[in-house]
Amino acid sequence: MDMKFLKRITSLALVVSMLGLYSCDNANAQHSKNNNTVKSISKYDSQIKDLMGKMTLDEKIGQMNMLTSDWDVTGPVMRAGYKEAIKSGKAGTLLNAFTADYTRELVQLSVDSTRLGIPIILGYDVIHGHRTIFPFPMAEACSWDLEAMGKSARIAAVEASAEGIHWTFAPMVDISRDPRWGRVMEGAGEDTWLGSKIAEVRVKGFQGDDISKNNTILACTKHFAAYGAPEAGRDYGTVDMSKRVLMEIYMPPFQATVDAGVKTFMTAFNELDGVPSTGNKWLWTDLLRGEWGWDGFIVTDYTAINEMVPHGVAGDLYDASVLAANAGIDVDMVGDAYINNLKKAVENGDVKESTIDAAVYQILKAKYELGLFEDPYRYNDATREKKEILSPEKVAFARKSAAESMVLLKNDKEVLPFSKDIKTIAVIGPLADEKEDLIAAWSAAGDRANRPVTVLEGVKNKVGDNVKVLYAKGTEVEGTSTKGFAEAIKIAKQADVVLLAIGEKYWMSGEAASKSNIDMPGNQEALAKEIFKANKNTAIILMNGRPLTIEELDKTAPVILETWFAGTEAGNAIADVVFGDYNPAGKLVMTFPRNVGQIPIYYNHKNTGRPLDPNEKYTTKYLDVPNTPLYPFGYGLSYTTFEYSNLKVDKNEITEDQIVNISIDVKNTGNYDGEEVVQMYIHDVVGSVTRPVRELRGFEKVMLKKGETKTIKLSLNKKDLSFYRLDMTFGTEPGKFDVYVGGSSDAEDKVSFTLK
Ligand code: NOJ
Repeated sequence: MDMKFLKRITSLALVVSMLGLYSCDNANAQHSKNNNTVKSISKYDSQIKDLMGKMTLDEKIGQMNMLTSDWDVTGPVMRAGYKEAIKSGKAGTLLNAFTADYTRELVQLSVDSTRLGIPIILGYDVIHGHRTIFPFPMAEACSWDLEAMGKSARIAAVEASAEGIHWTFAPMVDISRDPRWGRVMEGAGEDTWLGSKIAEVRVKGFQGDDISKNNTILACTKHFAAYGAPEAGRDYGTVDMSKRVLMEIYMPPFQATVDAGVKTFMTAFNELDGVPSTGNKWLWTDLLRGEWGWDGFIVTDYTAINEMVPHGVAGDLYDASVLAANAGIDVDMVGDAYINNLKKAVENGDVKESTIDAAVYQILKAKYELGLFEDPYRYNDATREKKEILSPEKVAFARKSAAESMVLLKNDKEVLPFSKDIKTIAVIGPLADEKEDLIAAWSAAGDRANRPVTVLEGVKNKVGDNVKVLYAKGTEVEGTSTKGFAEAIKIAKQADVVLLAIGEKYWMSGEAASKSNIDMPGNQEALAKEIFKANKNTAIILMNGRPLTIEELDKTAPVILETWFAGTEAGNAIADVVFGDYNPAGKLVMTFPRNVGQIPIYYNHKNTGRPLDPNEKYTTKYLDVPNTPLYPFGYGLSYTTFEYSNLKVDKNEITEDQIVNISIDVKNTGNYDGEEVVQMYIHDVVGSVTRPVRELRGFEKVMLKKGETKTIKLSLNKKDLSFYRLDMTFGTEPGKFDVYVGGSSDAEDKVSFTLK
């Protein structure tokens, strides 16, 4: 053991505790759980202990090692020969393997070839569907349909488990306020309250009501913590934020998954206040297992132990392994760090054997809970695989979920929906007949090359032989050639209406896909301008994995429909929306900036001491761009219109134990039946610390027939009004609250009440 290293960990711990930084003595006072909580004893306790009694130290450390198969690549591969490793008991878990037959073979190696026959757990990134692919998580979140999000997670679990997968590395619950970060597509957007609700339904969807069933899988909350806030939006970058922001904005979705019973957690690549997540004892042992009382197993992110060396908190892999194990990390993903160092660390006394035992206990517990000791092959059933994969109901649900995730950003002169009585439609654009992009990044075992329905195919399926469908690519997503423009302009002129599919390639978002420029790539905007000139009835079909800076396009485009990357059924769902068989109701969960210089830009910002006054120089603003975004959080149009009136609060004064009820009438004043997401925001006017100008605290998605009015009832309780006060205790403060209700975060209808 390097003495310098020992000094370093001791002094790190000292600094952290002296400064009281990220110590959460008070910070989690709202949770009844604390360090002294007696954790529930597993019903498998005696079996686990019996088995552990027979295990050698090597076998225990083998359980803490995870390898990757060569079926998929989700990071640098550290070693070949994973089958040999399984046989010699050196792989308790493995990722990136699927299909009933192949996983059966791997399970069999673990059961038949190892001394104690402990079955292996197989994990995979089942993020937005497994074979049937749904819109990526942030897109799906724009549906504000919690039930549907729970159901898509359930469907993903059914398919994945039928292919031998026991464990998904989802949900990712990282809040992000920076669309330059490529992984915004994987989360639920910028809002903590909504993100927490979504995190909960996703965990419950994957894990179901009984983890021992053969169609449920372990969920994994990731990436703990604050991975979504890297400096300048650059993936894997440094994270530095106040404890208040950490606890108030970034932590609640993680905690929501604990409350939902999530079985596993994953570390993050980033540091937090100078300590990388994977070696951060405060995060894992004090907060997660201590204050929050959680007791599942923790896996590192891919080679994250190894990365503590370049981070500069460990001199070598031995030191890094010691740091991780002592921080409370149970499984080393692919890094070969634990397997090569932990035995020596135990012999040297740098890691206690009880630490190893605690980790192995959690891993074996999960294996028992999954039912693997009862029947290790319960997930490897080729008949079930055949029946479940891409079954018609799943595909139909993917189509519905795709339509629900779309956001109508602009619809001048009601160009949409198109009439089915048109004679000719032109389908144009580099993404109009492209399959591979439609299932986005992180699409697990989705068939990128063949299965997704393109826009062109979706339109043809919809209009049949009655309408002439013309197609031209026009240009590429990237590049400067205008060679294809002429043909595209020609068919645009011949058509009654045009669909122009433009945006990003799928690999431009996701992991390691950050961008400093989030304008429309290539010369697609130039093509769009030409098409608008050729045909006024043009609808942009936008496809992208993050908010883009499209202010120029927004000025000239008659219609913009944000379709994200909508999954297996993308083209059919797009056709449903553009031809009016589905009236769009999606609302943005992430702000669209006007330009990249406005980032970070998010709706729940602070007011500042010099709030914007356009007529007063010395107020907070830019010289070259308004403060407002292009499209705010919560924004999205419908083919119909809604009118809000009669906003009421049932009490002008409440005590903190009373509920305050809010009601508002919403009328469908347009020409179509449609759904509206009625949103409620609060503003705590004066606090011991500054409060955001608005905070989402409730919503209801309601269907209104043409001309129909409904009264929407929402309520606020003590927790909704609570925050981390000056002393970091969580609770309310007396004073005035404003409540805004409407169809977006910039809703204007307001009522107020006072908390005594
Ligand atoms: C790295 C990613 O950060 C993580 O989210 C993913 O689950 C692992 N690779 C495994 O593929």
